[in-house]
Amino acid sequence: MNGSQDSAMHWERIASVAVEEAQQWCLWLTPRVIAIDGPAGSGKSTVGYGVAEIVDFLFFDTGAMYRAVTWAAGNSGIDLQDGVQVGRLAEELELDILPPRDIIRHGRNSVVLVNGQEVTAEIRRPEVDQRVSVVSAHGQVRTALSLKQRQIGDRYGVGDAEKAGVVMVGRDIGTVIMPDAALKIFLDASVEERARRRHREMMRQGKDVDFEQIRASIIQRDKIDSERAVAPLRPASDAVIIDTSDMGIEKVVENILKLVIKAGQGGGKYAPQSK
Ligand code: DC
Repeated sequence: MNGSQDSAMHWERIASVAVEEAQQWCLWLTPRVIAIDGPAGSGKSTVGYGVAEIVDFLFFDTGAMYRAVTWAAGNSGIDLQDGVQVGRLAEELELDILPPRDIIRHGRNSVVLVNGQEVTAEIRRPEVDQRVSVVSAHGQVRTALSLKQRQIGDRYGVGDAEKAGVVMVGRDIGTVIMPDAALKIFLDASVEERARRRHREMMRQGKDVDFEQIRASIIQRDKIDSERAVAPLRPASDAVIIDTSDMGIEKVVENILKLVIKAGQGGGKYAPQSK
């Protein structure tokens, strides 16, 4: 994404006809759920947030929930390998994912609260990065969080909430959480490019981190995320796969807006054979 992955999106570079038509046709999606899955650093959050802003849907980053549980488990001294205990913690925690108050200051697309305490920055620390794949591989944790995620997806999907619909971002949204989503996207990019993006993002935040370490951590997370027994990372059979390695954010967003239009015009759902 040419260095702009976590910087502001330039709307003017997106064809205005795509923006206007997507704003109209998104209301025809049935349910009004856009699922975006993909590995770490594929651009899911930046792209998902951009699409959500344009069509005025809620942006819901489900990875923040797994990170919040990882942070809380680390704080409470629970053994992270113990799926029963971490699962119980995931059930009991009160998790809130709110729209950003100040995206420039936070540099993130959502504000995250655990039992009322803001942990937006804490859940992005390297120690959470390193542990979150282990926590999110526990079936008990996934059951607890899936329930919370599906409730939000269902509520926004029928158009019965504060926003007209929802863009849900994660690893298993199209396959497990919202298999009925009107449009499913799977974003991918090479390991090198994803590591470069993460490295740039951290350097910009003033964190002096070693590139090779980030690269190794991404490879390790990919492996755990895609090999786990429960809800492994993989594209849904009806997902549109977009490789973002050599694409700018705006181009990816525009492509998704065009798919929103197709889905709306095609009766509310995107059918891959109509590509
Ligand atoms: O997208 P992210 O890097 O913030 O996700 C953090 C971790 O959570 C990642 O290792 C995979 C996991 N995750 C998941 O298993 N299912 C989701 N729906 C979202 C994230």
